[in-house]
Amino acid sequence: MIIFAAVIAVVLVARSTSHTVDASTAQSSDTLREFGRYLFYDPTLSVDSSTSCGTCHQQFAAFAHIDHAMSHGVMGRIGTRNVPALQNLQQQTSFMWDGAFANLAMQSVSPLTGHAEMGSTLSDVLARVAAHPRYRQYAAHLYADKQITIPRILEALAAFTGSIVSRSSRYDAMRDGKLAFNDNEQRGLDLFRARCASCHAEPYFMSNDFVSNGLPLDSIMPDDGRYRVTQRDEDRYRFRVPSLRNVAITFPYMHDGRYRRLRDVLEFYATPALHASYADARIRTIGSLNDAQRKDIIAFLLTLTDTLLPRNPCYRDPHLP
Ligand code: HEC
Ligand code: HEC
Repeated sequence: MIIFAAVIAVVLVARSTSHTVDASTAQSSDTLREFGRYLFYDPTLSVDSSTSCGTCHQQFAAFAHIDHAMSHGVMGRIGTRNVPALQNLQQQTSFMWDGAFANLAMQSVSPLTGHAEMGSTLSDVLARVAAHPRYRQYAAHLYADKQITIPRILEALAAFTGSIVSRSSRYDAMRDGKLAFNDNEQRGLDLFRARCASCHAEPYFMSNDFVSNGLPLDSIMPDDGRYRVTQRDEDRYRFRVPSLRNVAITFPYMHDGRYRRLRDVLEFYATPALHASYADARIRTIGSLNDAQRKDIIAFLLTLTDTLLPRNPCYRDPHLP
């Protein structure tokens, strides 16, 4: 698998340099994105044709999986982490809670072949995609040699997921001067800027850094986080700072989905006794938050819900009526 992945990485790099010539027209980038959208919602890419990317990444939940702490894949197999939202991925320099992938296209190899995700093999995926008339049409349109290859499949998936943008929330409208926050929202934003934004930075409310927010270790399923990727002691229990856009519709929260409600998250941050010793120093400066302050921060977080993304026809499952 690792050798195969390395070969694909080389091919992808080679392709991305020739990309500007290859796909120079806006039309072919639209076609590539459409190719990716069909693949994203295609359950036949999984071993038993039961599970597509869209099974776990649901549009109405900003492409997270609502109400599931751990992801559910083929044959009822349960994964080990909470499904993250997919949005503004162009802003991310790495992918997964621990940043295991530095390349969005490469990331797809993991769910396609993961035992607890789609459980397929890359050669099965290629055979199924190459046999499908719709995909053959896309390839004929996109590539001079008309061939469907694994790197092209991965590139199409990334073209689709990379096109998912969140920029239509109340917060965005406020920033554009189109509306004013009410008092609760404004107080919440001020508190957020003082206590939370050093990690969850505006306007994407994320960062590409790996830090610990002080979550105590889960005794049943301990997760080393970034350490898994780097094997450096200081990276133990660190995770990438996730975006808080659409946080109202992406519950439950954290890499293991341990909190169901935003109130629980605020309770955690505002209670120093709950913070593990390895917490980033910035967590200690959050301090206490009284009931009214917590409500204000939540009122602000609710302004980050996108009105367009969950209904945008460009991201929709094309198989739905
Ligand atoms: C069984 C559920 C499941 C399926 C199916 C699935 N994913 Fe995911 N996805 C996850 C989970 C869980 C994570 C986080 C994994 C981790 O951090 O280790 C994730 C992470 C991601 C990320 C990284 C997001 C980020 O912010 O870092 C991308 C991109 C992604 N998936 C795309 C896809 C694509 C494309 C497919 C289909 C080829 C797919 N996923 C299929 C559960 C799933
Ligand atoms: C030191 C950096 C840091 C600070 C400060 C911080 N966070 Fe976080 N936050 C993180 C990290 C890292 C995670 C992911 C942790 C994990 O899953 O293990 C996270 C996760 C979250 C989540 C869950 C998101 C999801 O999709 O699961 C919410 C909600 C959240 N933070 C809100 C806040 C609020 C509100 C504040 C201020 C009171 C705050 N954070 C301050 C680093 C920080």
